[in-house]
Amino acid sequence: MVQHTEKRCPFSGALYKEAEAFVRTGHGELGTPEAEVARRLGQIEAAIRQEGNYAHSTEELAHGARMAWRNANRCIGRLFWNRMHVFDERGCETEGQVYEALLRHIEFATNGGEIRPAITLFKPEDSDGGEPIRIWNHQLIRYAGYETENGIVGDPASLSFTKACMELGWCGEGTDFDVLPLVIQVRGRTPRWFPIPPELVLEVPLTHPSADLFGSFRAKWYAVPIISDMALEIGGIRYPAAPFNGWYMETEIGARNLADEFRYNLIPLVARQLGLDMSSNSTLWKDRALLELNVAVLHSFRQAGVSIVDHHTAAQQFKMFQRNEEKDGREVTGRWSWLIPPLSPALTHVFHSSFEDKTVMPGFLAQKRPYE
Ligand code: ARG
Repeated sequence: MVQHTEKRCPFSGALYKEAEAFVRTGHGELGTPEAEVARRLGQIEAAIRQEGNYAHSTEELAHGARMAWRNANRCIGRLFWNRMHVFDERGCETEGQVYEALLRHIEFATNGGEIRPAITLFKPEDSDGGEPIRIWNHQLIRYAGYETENGIVGDPASLSFTKACMELGWCGEGTDFDVLPLVIQVRGRTPRWFPIPPELVLEVPLTHPSADLFGSFRAKWYAVPIISDMALEIGGIRYPAAPFNGWYMETEIGARNLADEFRYNLIPLVARQLGLDMSSNSTLWKDRALLELNVAVLHSFRQAGVSIVDHHTAAQQFKMFQRNEEKDGREVTGRWSWLIPPLSPALTHVFHSSFEDKTVMPGFLAQKRPYE
């Protein structure tokens, strides 16, 4: 039996339930008076009845995004969750407007090297699941990877995305460090790509304080990691385009991006440059090279005046986060295999702790790649 014939959408009880849970917790944390929370819930219920959807206030958006960082099980840097800058760019309609907003994010976050954690929120998903805006990049700034006759040039992790960019008409120089373009898709149309002005891309040339680690190879890395392929979900509303950034921990670059055999694979080069005895595993030449590579990353970022944290300090900050959360009566969830640093993990308390890897909302969610 249909009671409200004027209704355009069936009332989504599931959406209301998610909204209610978020509004009660979120506004509770913000200290919103109970009467106002009740009024807000009434408003949201009415909106869902009429439109099948509701919109977050700017305040809800900001706090929801910060809660999502707090709930990011794989992130060791969560101590600073409450200090993330939130850009509300839900008004962006066109590819060009999204591009401009992304450049504003890059510039704000980079801040001449004194990196500021930030997130930009674009239009949320429609109630029927339609995707207004999607950013194809994994990170806003990342290096291309090419398959050539002489093997892979650049970052092997970018092979398929680089191919997609080239199919869209982009062409890189073919160096090991070509910055990929921003690829923006609006309403399922063919995406458009835009180059990032080079003066907006802060990069750090890598040097070691006392050794020539790289010889003629011009090793470098970009300053700001801005993850752009995850969805943010707040109160049952999904934001498929929600790029966010913090600053780097040195191991991300020195123990993974430049060290993994399936990434830049620099350990053998560094070991040769250091003159290590590579004749046997048991000389621990890989471990020695890895350590000096991480020394170089920290040294270079420090020298360039670009924010970075070492894994010992990050672990201490995470400890502080755990204490804060306990004080506020919240459980810290986490994924142990991601929280431990890939260099000397057992030297940090994280290694000797355990965590429940439970999904708590608001949160960041992986999404299917639109290319591939
Ligand atoms: N691990 C990724 C990279 O090396 C970045 C992930 C986010 N990292 C961060 N410090 N916020 O590019």
